Amino acid sequence: MTTSQKTALITGANKGIGMETARRLAALGTTVLIGARSAERGEAAAEELRGEGADVRFVLLDVTDEISVRTAAQHIDATFGRLDILVNNAGIAAGPQAPSEVSAATVRQVYETNVFGVIAVTHAMLPLLRRSAAARIVNMSSELGSLAHMADPGSPWSAYTSILLPYCSSKSALNAITVLYANELRGEGILVNAVSPGYCATDLNRHSGIRTAEEGAAVAVDLATVGEDGPTGAFLTEDGPIPW
Ligand SMILES: NC(=O)c1ccc[n+]([C@@H]2O[C@H](COP(=O)([O-])OP(=O)(O)OC[C@H]3O[C@@H](n4cnc5c(N)ncnc54)[C@H](OP(=O)(O)O)[C@@H]3O)[C@@H](O)[C@H]2O)c1
Repeated sequence: MTTSQKTALITGANKGIGMETARRLAALGTTVLIGARSAERGEAAAEELRGEGADVRFVLLDVTDEISVRTAAQHIDATFGRLDILVNNAGIAAGPQAPSEVSAATVRQVYETNVFGVIAVTHAMLPLLRRSAAARIVNMSSELGSLAHMADPGSPWSAYTSILLPYCSSKSALNAITVLYANELRGEGILVNAVSPGYCATDLNRHSGIRTAEEGAAVAVDLATVGEDGPTGAFLTEDGPIPW
């Protein structure tokens, strides 16, 4: 690896939008670390991408397990000494259920991955990102996390937001976290953004989405590779900013 070679870690990259983000970043010449909570699924994904000529390695990483997160950071430190790109992609949903039917336990479970997992991984990887000349953090959010959409009864997303309290509110929290990290890290040249990939057909929604995972990955790759004059603390689709 040359010192100019960039290294990216993508959480939940063994399938779906995370794996397509890995494929696209690798095609740009980035060394990509496939974070996955299953060694079998992670190795299989890395093997598939290596078969396409990509420089891709598997890293065992369950974002809800502090020891797993710490061990992954130690491994990346020992192998690469720094990290240039972090894509917090791993995510889960629960439901459908009316908001009044949802238990705190269900919300807590979703937040463990979608919110606390992002904080744990970002906290562990920041020392490595700070060693990069131009670090980028991309948080995989969703338009379903937009408070503006949730507050609009005529929103085209209301059919989803009205039955997905754990998921939607977890992505609102993720958006807030994104802005707060961006504010702190702006002065260090670390750009932090939340992206929405659009409604993509993946296991998350039993393949009901209308876009491909590859199309969804495009905005994450754009922000992962954006120049120093790019946005930070923004909430973006590939067509531009989304209302918070
Ligand atoms: N699909 C959409 O329409 C859509 C729209 C907006 C936003 N998003 C967001 O995009 C991201 C990727 O979703 P997707 O649609 O590609 O879904 P997916 O195909 O279900 O992929 C989710 C990935 O997250 C991983 N994951 C779940 N919990 C994890 C944990 N504790 N530790 C590590 N990895 C974990 C899964 O691993 P396993 O294989 O082990 O389960 C899988 O690799 C999510 O954050 C999602 O909220 C998706």
